[in-house]
Amino acid sequence: MSYSPDDLRRLRTETILREVEPHLEIGSTNDRALVLCNETNLPVPYLILAERQTAGRGRGANRWWSSDGALMFSVVIDAKDYTLPESRWPQISLTVGVAVCETLAVLANSTNLTTGRTPHSVGLKWPNDVWLNDRKVCGILMEVPPTRCGRLVIGVGLNVNNSFATAPAELSLIATSLGDETGKTFDRAQVLTLLLQQLDEDLKRLAGSDESLVENWQSRCVLKGRTVSIDSGQRVVSGLCLGIADYGALRLQTPNGEQRFYGGVIRSIE
Ligand code: BTN
Repeated sequence: MSYSPDDLRRLRTETILREVEPHLEIGSTNDRALVLCNETNLPVPYLILAERQTAGRGRGANRWWSSDGALMFSVVIDAKDYTLPESRWPQISLTVGVAVCETLAVLANSTNLTTGRTPHSVGLKWPNDVWLNDRKVCGILMEVPPTRCGRLVIGVGLNVNNSFATAPAELSLIATSLGDETGKTFDRAQVLTLLLQQLDEDLKRLAGSDESLVENWQSRCVLKGRTVSIDSGQRVVSGLCLGIADYGALRLQTPNGEQRFYGGVIRSIE
């Protein structure tokens, strides 16, 4: 079921959004958002919401796969509205991840997010995923337009009512959705409203260097205490994950001492 006019009205009145642009089908909401960033009079925060994407993108060369029922959107914000200096931009993905975790925690209070197999656990998988019960439930793609006009694109794909039961095997083993975990159907507009309200708060916490935000991403790190391999672009390093440092870097204890990574791709987790 797609978003109703009432859903779109609620998004405009109950969140920070100034405009909502719904699409039944689009290539990628992030691509559309990057184009819109060039419009001087764009009312921001501006939301692009899609029922279906034909060319959804993940980090690097990755594609974002999802079937009907996922929550997929991009929001354009102006960094100045949040007084977010460029030095803070690399931490936005983790901040969005915290907002997603907090939203899922609110939903968990009203809905049991457990399969019966495992108690529900929600955590951040550095640098831009959220896991539910050890599987990816959400991916985040934050992008800076090439014009560097001060606007930022925050793209989120949250698996809500879509199911991985019919997904390709390599995905169904590593990904999940709220529906798959609970057997329930969620009101995506309500999930999005909660998430955008939480995101507004968390971006303000980031701008204000709020300690509790850093504590939050540290305590929610699902890699902490596990041996991971990271591909930093120049080399692959393995070590025991010590958590996430203040500026969002992944901390690894390696035979050569502690090393910090500000970007990279996690290749393996033991
Ligand atoms: C990742 O897992 O690497 C990030 C995935 C981000 C997917 C979302 S879906 C909405 C928005 N539009 C895109 O093309 N990608 C993001």
